[in-house]
Amino acid sequence: MDYLKAQRVQSLHGTINISGAKNASLPLIAMTILAKNKVSITNLPVVTDIKTLLKLLTNLGGEVMFEEDKVVVDTISLHETKATYDIVKTMRASILVLGPILSRFGHCEVSLPGGCAIGQRPIDLHLKALEQMGAIIDIKSGYIQATAPDGLKGANIIFDKVTVTGTANIVMAAALAHGVTTITNAAREPEVVQLCEVLEKSGIEIEGIGTAILRIKGSAGKLIDIASFRVIPDRIEAGTYLCAGAITRSEITLSNVEPRHLGAVISKLEEMGSSFTIGEDSITIHPGEEILPTKIITQEYPAFPTDMQAQFLALATQANGVSIIEERLFENRFMHVSELQRMGAEITLNGHTATVTGKSKLSGADVMATDLRASSALVLAALVADGETNIHRIYHLDRGYDALEKKLRCVGANIKRLKE
Ligand code: EPZ
Repeated sequence: MDYLKAQRVQSLHGTINISGAKNASLPLIAMTILAKNKVSITNLPVVTDIKTLLKLLTNLGGEVMFEEDKVVVDTISLHETKATYDIVKTMRASILVLGPILSRFGHCEVSLPGGCAIGQRPIDLHLKALEQMGAIIDIKSGYIQATAPDGLKGANIIFDKVTVTGTANIVMAAALAHGVTTITNAAREPEVVQLCEVLEKSGIEIEGIGTAILRIKGSAGKLIDIASFRVIPDRIEAGTYLCAGAITRSEITLSNVEPRHLGAVISKLEEMGSSFTIGEDSITIHPGEEILPTKIITQEYPAFPTDMQAQFLALATQANGVSIIEERLFENRFMHVSELQRMGAEITLNGHTATVTGKSKLSGADVMATDLRASSALVLAALVADGETNIHRIYHLDRGYDALEKKLRCVGANIKRLKE
């Protein structure tokens, strides 16, 4: 297994290029199951989760061609409708194939994704919505067995909770359904917006894109001629590097980024003392005199994203004062805390709220990544910790960050990937 060895850095400087968004790429790849044509995708990030989903598509009989600057996905000959446990257990987002396969073939078997490190992560809302669209769903020996022999029907779906992949699943199921589907309390994340925009550009009538109420007119089972698309920039990767600039008090620039997707993150960093130069597709962070403490509550987009909570908690250890961070989406998303405490951070946990007392002097240590975003929080801490930090189990990091240590080295960090 690989691990990262990182030293304290005086400061970073230069430009980091942002890759395509993992959480946009996953539903967009699942969407190719609805296509009657070969779909051309550019700006896919090179991360494990994307490779896993592309592998799942080939296991189902699809074809994936890697060309010079794009990936072409051909699901015309896709014939398998069972997503097996061996793949789904490595990536819960495989559940995103449920809606498309069911609406295209009228039956689908997907292994239950099970929980993950950050929480139980049920999919009850996905299943309930599909049942409202006419699917018959059984759970047998750890598999979801869904059938809709006459195809799915449009329905009025009201999500009890905002669910990102739940919204994506139902949007894709509705795209091929018979009739109109309304989704109320839909997720408004940019990744869901791009999925809707590509489907709309491909001829599916969708109203309310970007709002909490979506109205999708299905194609009544006809496959879709899906337009080529470029995956939007990864706002969480971008936010992570902005935190790297803030925690090391460095001025760095991000390129190929979408500033409009980072409103809550930029505003929180301004509250903590940074200022910004914002371009069309670039952001430069200018560190303040000091890092100020803050209060964070994670919520659905466009509010502060849960996927940035761990990174800001690491940053808060360097603030002059007490920060309060409340995690409202997942029940177990503070596993980075114990590792940061081992580096000398002063953090107390009380249920879903972390109280971080800064500024604490961090010392390098051997630490263990526990989940994707916790891994990046440990990298941020390592950049300002005295001595050397070894971050183990970085397969978590590789799921969602494209060449993180290379990108940080390009702006002056002393960090390298080694073999255990
Ligand atoms: C997506 O997960 C993201 N993953 C997560 O990013 C992100 O943290 C999360 O949205 C919230 O923004 C992808 O897009 C692949 P949810 P998802 O369904 O869709 C509850 C990362 O780091 N819920 O929006 O699985 C659920 O328990 C990952 O890149 C139900 O109760 O999250 C949670 O409390 C981590 N029943 C809340 O809703 C359901 O059927 C939001 O979950 C579905 C969800």
